[in-house]
Amino acid sequence: MTQIASSPQQVVARRYRDPESVPPAEWNPVLQVLHEHRSVRRYLPDPIPDAIVRLLVSAAQSAPTSSNLQAWSVIAVREPERKARLAVLAGGQEHITQAPLLLVWTADLARARTLAAGREVPLDGADYLESSFVAFLDAALAAQNAVVAAESLGYGTVYIGAIRNHPEQVSAELGLPAGVFPVVGLVVGRPDPAENTRVKPRLPQAAVLHAETYDPTGQAKPIADYEDRIAEFYAEQDLTHSWIDRVLTRLGSVAALNGRHRLRDQLTAHGFPLK
Ligand SMILES: Cc1cc2nc3c(=O)[nH]c(=O)nc-3n(C[C@H](O)[C@H](O)[C@H](O)COP(=O)(O)O)c2cc1C
Repeated sequence: MTQIASSPQQVVARRYRDPESVPPAEWNPVLQVLHEHRSVRRYLPDPIPDAIVRLLVSAAQSAPTSSNLQAWSVIAVREPERKARLAVLAGGQEHITQAPLLLVWTADLARARTLAAGREVPLDGADYLESSFVAFLDAALAAQNAVVAAESLGYGTVYIGAIRNHPEQVSAELGLPAGVFPVVGLVVGRPDPAENTRVKPRLPQAAVLHAETYDPTGQAKPIADYEDRIAEFYAEQDLTHSWIDRVLTRLGSVAALNGRHRLRDQLTAHGFPLK
């Protein structure tokens, strides 16, 4: 399927690589940006103005946040040497060094702990898994708002989950105190047009959308369809990947977690007791 999609129906069809997809009920520029998302892994070196970084952060802060706790912070890393060190810690991902900006989104319970210490009151609820979950979720929602804002401005992004491969060293590099933990990195920059990124198709809705109650049956056909569609996507890049193989490989062994199997211990050591 060609990547040139002009009508809303073509944009949605491209998201699924489903030529029979129905026209969307409504359309607007926000929906256009959301449906056109693709991760970018080659960047031009053009710097990103401070005013744009602040705009990405105000978009991030516009995300919903559990109980208005705002339990996250973000570190904007631009220094080439620091980015290069973080790239090494994140498995040598070249795009971190190439792009002008790496945003490291953190779960931040330290702010609330400081408030509690200032008033000399307990903060027992912060010790529970629920509170860490809230902070991680808040950070993710904020980061995704920044992604949408960046893409709406023509910037490219790619998340860096590998920032959690070595969270102790990342925390040291960024000066993160106890109670602040790196959740995910986000590379931001002008996409290098030479990369020719494509919209990666997603599972048919029949595999993910359930009516009223979860229905575990009926997944085989949409998954088989998806295998064909994503094989076409990979073949366009001279790759022969299977989605099923990739899922099973990614989740099939401890080794495939690239060090992230230690996350519970690292969190508890860094001010997230996870009771
Ligand atoms: C939490 C998270 C962590 C990710 N970590 C990485 C990463 O470390 N390196 C990378 O190249 N892509 C990373 N990605 C990008 C995914 O591989 C990508 O979103 C997925 O393959 C779908 O492709 P698309 O974003 O182009 O639609 C990450 C995405 C998410 C949501």
